Amino acid sequence: MDQSKIWKGNWTFVLAAAGAAVGLGNIWKFPYLAGESGGGAFVIVYLLCILFLGLPIMIAEIYIGRYGRKSPINSVRKIISDYGLNKFWLILGWLGALAGLLILSYYSVIAGIAASYIFSSIPHTELNPAEYSVEYYSNFKNSPLLMIFWHSLFIGVTCYVVGKGVVDGIGKAINILMPILFFLVIVLCIYSSLTGEFIKTLSFLFNPDFSKITPGVVITAMGQAFFTLSIGMGSIMAYGAYMPQEQMIGKTVLIVIFLDTLVALLAGFTIFPIVFSNPELSAFVGKGLLFESLPVAFHSMPLGSIFHSVFFILVSIAALSSSVSLIEPFTAWIEEERIFSRLNGVIILGVIAWLIGLGTVFSDNIWAEYEIYGMNFFEVIAILTDQFMLPLGGLLICLLVGFCIPKIDLEREIDLSRNLSNIFNICLKFVAPVSVLLIFGYALS
Ligand code: PHE
Repeated sequence: MDQSKIWKGNWTFVLAAAGAAVGLGNIWKFPYLAGESGGGAFVIVYLLCILFLGLPIMIAEIYIGRYGRKSPINSVRKIISDYGLNKFWLILGWLGALAGLLILSYYSVIAGIAASYIFSSIPHTELNPAEYSVEYYSNFKNSPLLMIFWHSLFIGVTCYVVGKGVVDGIGKAINILMPILFFLVIVLCIYSSLTGEFIKTLSFLFNPDFSKITPGVVITAMGQAFFTLSIGMGSIMAYGAYMPQEQMIGKTVLIVIFLDTLVALLAGFTIFPIVFSNPELSAFVGKGLLFESLPVAFHSMPLGSIFHSVFFILVSIAALSSSVSLIEPFTAWIEEERIFSRLNGVIILGVIAWLIGLGTVFSDNIWAEYEIYGMNFFEVIAILTDQFMLPLGGLLICLLVGFCIPKIDLEREIDLSRNLSNIFNICLKFVAPVSVLLIFGYALS
């Protein structure tokens, strides 16, 4: 690889990986899934999956990327040829590229809603802000044209950034914007915990009712762990290719995972205190949770409308730093193979994701009554990717790195102490793959 593409310093990789990981998954999806799945039971399974699946798989994924120093498809190809493996493993790269497009298709619809919220704080004349907020969101999702406008804008910006080259453009922006986002999420969390139902939230999120652990909750929690960490599809692998050779993979992954989990929990402690203190709001509303609840908190804050806009600007940026990483692996491959230029490649992929995204737009309005096994189009795509494609990708990564790469080669790259390295190996070879298989089996039972 061209050396100039390798990031300088250790922090750029940490921030870029945290930028890919922290996004709508933490601020929008984690709270609504926790709300729908009954809180504590979901949270505990989610945290276990982060630790026992997320950690080893993220390490292994970065390893593949840094070893190959190419797009995920070609990095896997290099491992296949260097170690004389079967071509079957290429499926890993292709599955990830496809999952990236499918996720982007709905991600940009939701990110578009977040971007539109920059301009929609609750008016000060409003007597019942919670009721207003619920109605505003309902009107918004019932308007396909408005949703298509914001969906198109968001995908357009994503393609523009990726077309320009990820390393310079987004790399620089992330360095400034991510710390501001962290700061704002902390401020918001303190505000809503002080003014809302903090104790109720604490018990909702951390007091697990084990009778609520059903196959559905377990697979949802596993899917969310993969989704939030951006693992199982090549995003983190693509970034691994830009990681400096001397950077320690193990330590870096710990920081990224810590930041990602922190933001998800903070988002939970921001949203639920408001939901529990306003009878008009409900924790079980699904994907509208963020959009219905937060504006109510801003409404009651001093300088609330400014905070409201700044917050949604930052959410849109966090979403952008993730959406870029969704389309980058496929684009990098198209560019490497010289099929099209980077810009033309990303435009074609963007148009495909845009078209599939229309299905998500219509799920809430003109296609609302069409269901497959009780799920609308958005739910089918979200479940297919989070709960099937990403864990399957993760499983293949464990098997490839755990069983096909000699242990000494791995140890040289990953720099863990002897004990940690043994634990990592056991997790990668047995704990993670067996857990994914068991959870698949449990969900089908
Ligand atoms: N992790 C991102 C988020 O939480 C979403 C994502 C998934 C990004 C998979 C890249 C790959 O918003």
